[in-house]
Amino acid sequence: MELDHVAVAVRDLKAACQLYERLGFAVGEREEIAGQKVRVAMLPLGESRLELMEPTAADSSVGRFLARRGEGLHHIAVRVPDLAEAVAELQRAGARLIDAEPQTGAGGHRFVFVHPASTGGVLLELVEAQR
Ligand code: CO
Repeated sequence: MELDHVAVAVRDLKAACQLYERLGFAVGEREEIAGQKVRVAMLPLGESRLELMEPTAADSSVGRFLARRGEGLHHIAVRVPDLAEAVAELQRAGARLIDAEPQTGAGGHRFVFVHPASTGGVLLELVEAQR
């Protein structure tokens, strides 16, 4: 497993990008992911990246997160070579998945989320490495 990205929920993507640029980060690609009702910006960090996410709707999962907890760390994502195999392994281990069916996210990557109840309180995303 490798760290793919760390995602931060923000209310205002443009303002957050400006803030991180002032902190010395380079802001890369931006993308809107309609299926998850978010707009994201990628800030490259070596082989991984920081992902800033702004909800495009209050009733989205990130919108609800912001309403409940405010801005901050939303999830960490690790890259796995084979998502189906990783999901099977998690299920054997009794981990609770948010959605057992992989979904498609930023950059066309396939992913699943593991519930924080199974990871010591951190929302964990598994992303399939692109082949
Ligand atoms: Co993510």
